[in-house]
Amino acid sequence: MMALRRAALLGLTLLAGSLPAIAADDPPVSALPSQPAMPDPLVARDGHTVKTAEEWNTSRREELKALFTHYMYGKAPEPHQVVFSVERVDRQALGGKATIKEMVLAMGLQQAVKIHVLLAIPNKRVGAVPVFVGPNFYGNHAALKDPAIRLSTAWMPDRAPGVKNNRATDESRGTQEATWAIEDSIDRGYAVATFYCGDVAPDHPGLNDGVFTAYPKPDKNGWGAVRAWAWGVSRVVDYLLTEPDLDKSKIAVVGHSRLGKAAIVAGAFDERIALVIPLQAGCGGTAPSRGKIGESVQQINDRFPHWFCDEFKTFNTQTDRLPFDQNGLMALIAPRPILLSNAVDDQWANPSGQFEALKAAEGVYRLLGTDGLKADKMPEVGVLVDSTQGYFIRPGKHSMGREDWQAFWKFADKHFGRNGAK
Ligand code: GCU
Repeated sequence: MMALRRAALLGLTLLAGSLPAIAADDPPVSALPSQPAMPDPLVARDGHTVKTAEEWNTSRREELKALFTHYMYGKAPEPHQVVFSVERVDRQALGGKATIKEMVLAMGLQQAVKIHVLLAIPNKRVGAVPVFVGPNFYGNHAALKDPAIRLSTAWMPDRAPGVKNNRATDESRGTQEATWAIEDSIDRGYAVATFYCGDVAPDHPGLNDGVFTAYPKPDKNGWGAVRAWAWGVSRVVDYLLTEPDLDKSKIAVVGHSRLGKAAIVAGAFDERIALVIPLQAGCGGTAPSRGKIGESVQQINDRFPHWFCDEFKTFNTQTDRLPFDQNGLMALIAPRPILLSNAVDDQWANPSGQFEALKAAEGVYRLLGTDGLKADKMPEVGVLVDSTQGYFIRPGKHSMGREDWQAFWKFADKHFGRNGAK
C-alpha cells in the first residue's frame, strides 16, 4: 500500500516536473492584454515600474529574457563540453599582416556538432586586440580569398555564389570578401572571427541537422534557428576567451540581416559580448513586431517557419498582445553599446521603426547610467550617431560592405576607447 502510494506520488511529481513552464506564468496569446504601443521594458509583469539599476539587473532583466525565450526565440540548451582544436595556423597571411587560425569547436552528444572558426589577428599589435565575431552566410572560405582556407562541406543554399547541389565549390572562394572586409579590419587593429551559420543550423525548415542532431528541438517552445545561430556565437566566444592575443573585454558581435537578428539575440543573452552591431536586421531582430513598415510577423513566420519558436506564430495577427517588443531586446543589452545600422533602400527592414524601438529602450540605458540615444530623430543619411545607443543609415540597398564597416570601426573605436587608433 505504502509502496503504491509512493509510486503514485512519484508519478505525480514526475508529471508535474514534465509540464511546460506553468500556464499561469506564461499565458497563451488569448489571455494576454492588447498593448498597441511597444511596451516599456521598465514595466515589469506585475505592472510596477522598475526604478533602480539594481532591480533591473537582479530581477527584471531575467524576467524579460524568460519572456523572449518563451514567446519568440525558444529555449537554448546548456552546452555540453566544447572541445577546441587547431586545424591550421598561418602566421604570414594577408601578405604578412595577419595570423590566421582555423579552429574546430566540437560539442553536443558525441561531439557531433562542429563549428569551424576562421580567426584573423593583426600581426602589428601592442597587447591584446579587440575582436569582431559574427556568423557568415556562405562559409569561411567565402569570407576571404585564400586557397588554404578549408572549403566548407556543409549544406548550403544553392543561391550562394559558387554553390552547386547544395555544396560549396572552389568558385565560391572569396565571394564574400567585400562583405567581411577582413583585411581592412586588420589594418584598423581589429581581429575578426567568423563561422558558417549552417555549421550550427542550416537555414531550411527541417531543423533536423546541424546542432539539432545533438540538441533536438524539444517542444513548441524549443529554439528556432535565430536562437541557435546566437548560441553558436556564444560557443565561439567560449573559444575566443581562451585566446591570449584577444582583449576579452572587447568582443563585438556583428551580423547582417537574419544573422543580424542572431547578433542582437546573442548580445541580449550573453553579457560577455561587449558591443552589439545588428545590421539591417529588421523584423524579428531590431524592427518592432508591431511595426507597420516592411516585413510583418505573419510574413516572416510564414516564409521562415524555422527561425522562431512555434509560440511566436500565435502572434501572427495579434502582435499587439506580445508582452514585449524589440525595444525590450535592445534594453537587455544595456548598458553595453549597440549600433543599429541600416540602408535607405532597405525599407523591408523598417529603418525608421528601428529608430523608434531604439528610442523606446532609452529608459533602461539611462537608468543604467549611460548617455542613451543622443538624437531625437533619425540622423541624416551617412551621419553616425555614436552615443551608447548608436544609429546609422547609409544610401543604397540591403547588403553588408565596407561602407557599413566604416561605421562599425568608428563606433567600436569610440566605445572601446581607441580613438586615434589607426
Ligand atoms: C528576407 C527576410 C528578412 C531577412 C532577410 C535576410 O528578406 O524576409 O527577415 O532579414 O531575408 O536575411 O537577408
